[in-house]
Amino acid sequence: MPGFEWLDDKETKALLEVMNTGILFRYDMPGGRGQVVEKFEKAFAQYCGSRFALAVSSGTAAVKVGLVGLGVGPGDEVIVPGFTFVATWEAVFDCGATPVFCEIDQSLCLDPADLAQKITPQTKAIVPVHMLGAQARMAQIKAIAGKHGIPVLEDTAQAAGCTLEGRYVGTFGACGTFSFDAVKTLTTGEGGMVITDDEALYQTICEYSDHGHDHKPLGRGNEGRRFFGFNYRMMELQGALGLVQLDKLPRMVERMRSHKAALKEALSRVPGLTFRELPDAAGDSATFLSWFMPDAAKASAMAAILAQHGAGAVPWGVNTWHSYTNWEHLHAGATPCKSGWPYKRAQGGVAYGPADLPATSAILGRCLSWQIMLNWDEAELQKRTEAINHAASAL
Ligand SMILES: Cc1ncc(COP(=O)(O)O)c(C=O)c1O
Repeated sequence: MPGFEWLDDKETKALLEVMNTGILFRYDMPGGRGQVVEKFEKAFAQYCGSRFALAVSSGTAAVKVGLVGLGVGPGDEVIVPGFTFVATWEAVFDCGATPVFCEIDQSLCLDPADLAQKITPQTKAIVPVHMLGAQARMAQIKAIAGKHGIPVLEDTAQAAGCTLEGRYVGTFGACGTFSFDAVKTLTTGEGGMVITDDEALYQTICEYSDHGHDHKPLGRGNEGRRFFGFNYRMMELQGALGLVQLDKLPRMVERMRSHKAALKEALSRVPGLTFRELPDAAGDSATFLSWFMPDAAKASAMAAILAQHGAGAVPWGVNTWHSYTNWEHLHAGATPCKSGWPYKRAQGGVAYGPADLPATSAILGRCLSWQIMLNWDEAELQKRTEAINHAASAL
């Protein structure tokens, strides 16, 4: 997910242009109105094929703002996968709602069969996450959600530039959210975006992310505030970075796809190895190459061989950032709040156990990934191919 690898004088020039205007704020300020974030929003919406885009301060904020826009609040349940970044469920808790964790399948995304089991009368949103640059099973997920009339928010933080049957992910649900943090393909350092085709939803999130200031009909802040809000705004410097990075995004995806294809070919020689299932391999943004070994012992043996040859892979079974099994603070119900919020509520408590998602734990225990970098050269690809060859003969 490495847009930072291609930061160059184009970004520097765009940042200086904003600095020279003296306008760092996206809305009105003495000297004029910021225009750069708005341009970035329009360009991003056009790129994705979405009607509206709202830039926000982070990908975490994007999920929170999107959920609030869908009306999620205390007493509601939101279904999220057990393989994601903690931000997805932090945002649910931060709305006062309860995350309900769902198994993943070999797509490494939400398992539609388990999703169907997890729906209750309290379910107010379903959040598939397009993990590691590729698609969740949107057709099945949307069919289940549609049957129950539940909106879908696609957490697309990790999958800018990914398509599913020719359409950008993030455009399948009621809204899609993106992260542009420091390690994402398109980076603005910190930042995020919510895209939607729903004008009313857009209007709500626009105002919510700006303290509830009214944005219509007379312009911003004429105060007929419709509701409570908060500050999740993006600033002009981030917008400037975003425009330049968006221009580079198609070439970044192309480069990652080519590196991934070369290594996938080599990996297919390893006995017993199978690849992550991709609903649409052609649309994969190729930020990661992920595969399964027949069991956890073989996965850890392969990880050791690769590391020994300078080509360490991510062993998801022991990863603490993304795997439900290893979120110790969630399982402990740990919080700095003296009241015990968000786990303890007026109406009772919520508890999560590390063994609650056995299928997800088993899948991740067998799974390894390489993050694909833009600046890998022939020597790096060769080194990785040789590491694979060592694994192929040893396993
Ligand atoms: C799936 C997912 N959702 C949300 C986020 C949060 O994005 P940010 O770091 O911009 O807050 C991330 C960040 O890595 C992510 O991977």
